[in-house]
Amino acid sequence: MGETGTPMKRDTLGLPKVAYGRGSYVFDEAGNRYIDGSGGPAVFCLGHAHPEVNEAIRVQLGRIAHGYRFTFTSDPLERLVEIIQQQAGPGFEHAVFVSSGSEATESGLKIALQHFWARGEASRNRFIARDRSYHGNTLGALAVSGFASRREPFEQALRETAFVSAANAYRKPAGISVEDYVQQLADELEQTIVELGAQNVAGFLFEPVVGAAGGVVPAPAGYAKKVRDICDRHGILLIADEVMCGAGRCGTWRALEHDGVVPDIMMLAKGLGGGYVPLGATMFSAAVGEPIHANGGSVNTGHTFTGHTLACAAAVKVQEIIERDRLVERVRTRGHSFISELRDRLADTDAVGDIRGRGFFVGVELVKDRGTRTPFPARAELRERIRRHTMQEGLICYPVGGNVDGRSGDVAILAPPYNASDKELDEIAGKFERGLRRALADVR
Ligand SMILES: Cc1ncc(COP(=O)(O)O)c(C=O)c1O
Repeated sequence: MGETGTPMKRDTLGLPKVAYGRGSYVFDEAGNRYIDGSGGPAVFCLGHAHPEVNEAIRVQLGRIAHGYRFTFTSDPLERLVEIIQQQAGPGFEHAVFVSSGSEATESGLKIALQHFWARGEASRNRFIARDRSYHGNTLGALAVSGFASRREPFEQALRETAFVSAANAYRKPAGISVEDYVQQLADELEQTIVELGAQNVAGFLFEPVVGAAGGVVPAPAGYAKKVRDICDRHGILLIADEVMCGAGRCGTWRALEHDGVVPDIMMLAKGLGGGYVPLGATMFSAAVGEPIHANGGSVNTGHTFTGHTLACAAAVKVQEIIERDRLVERVRTRGHSFISELRDRLADTDAVGDIRGRGFFVGVELVKDRGTRTPFPARAELRERIRRHTMQEGLICYPVGGNVDGRSGDVAILAPPYNASDKELDEIAGKFERGLRRALADVR
């Protein structure tokens, strides 16, 4: 990035210039049309230029862009709190709004720390997170992220975090059942807590379905319940990062609903406002807030644009449409057939090791050898080839890398808008198949 924040020439070289979006399609200035099979990194849950969302934004801008949080509250802010509390269900009595997923993580970490500080337990200030995870790009969020390539230049400045193994059923040790694997992971977490001393640990942080760092890796069955139980036994807060997988993306409004687990703190962002105006949120329980709010205190987190009125107005409309059109239900049911279609189309492709996911959040993992699950070498740049070839086919997908050892491993993520039509979903699957076959032909 240049000093003004403008991308430097070499960062944008070769990228098409975006012109406009309509529904599930994005158009560039050269007139090319792309179907949005990933909504960037799983953001645009209602597609682009939705007339009702745009109208809500226009109306709000006509009133005021933002009422600063220490001066005003607003209808959009209050309405959005109501909606997300209703959608999230019991256990999320408080919410703070921020402008990104990274800020949501920062707030989640700070709320956990302030909770224990207010209880007179300031020694509880360590966090445990997992390998192959991503929680954001600010220093605090990066410090709890198990994402080697993004950490590397800043490693010396990151606050120490204890990392436990990723929970990835496709890459579990050979010869053990998923049940035993989950127990092994639970034991590792508990052992780590014991080593650190529970009295020093504030929270355990995880993505219920790992996004960019793993390539759509849902927690194996039973995992979330076990980590919930361990955190309870040791008085540690369970922090769920649902920035990418939440807000309906996985076919339940909260991704962890699927596992029957309620965390103490939860972060949201991408699907919350659908990419129309930057917005994130951190929700937390009454019990987490109680010591903080005792004697009139409040959470010491937030920014100039916290609860940004325009962003909240856009998100209110996004969430109202999701609810009115029963889109979470559609994502849940249609997600099954979308994955099946991809599996059928790619069944003959040896390099496809795993197709997994929940709802409209699907990862296709590529391997050099299906038997040993060996990834392609990072230098083959398969993910970049997938990006290029699918774009040439007229599809936007989200190829990510490093899921195996931090460097190698290639997964293409598909995360269509919740309101993509059946025909559009078929088009995404077809274009993905063609683009992927061309990328694989390149590396053979
Ligand atoms: C799970 C998760 N947490 C946090 C973040 C950071 O969000 P942002 O890029 O909006 O700061 C991301 C971004 O991809 C994410 O996927």
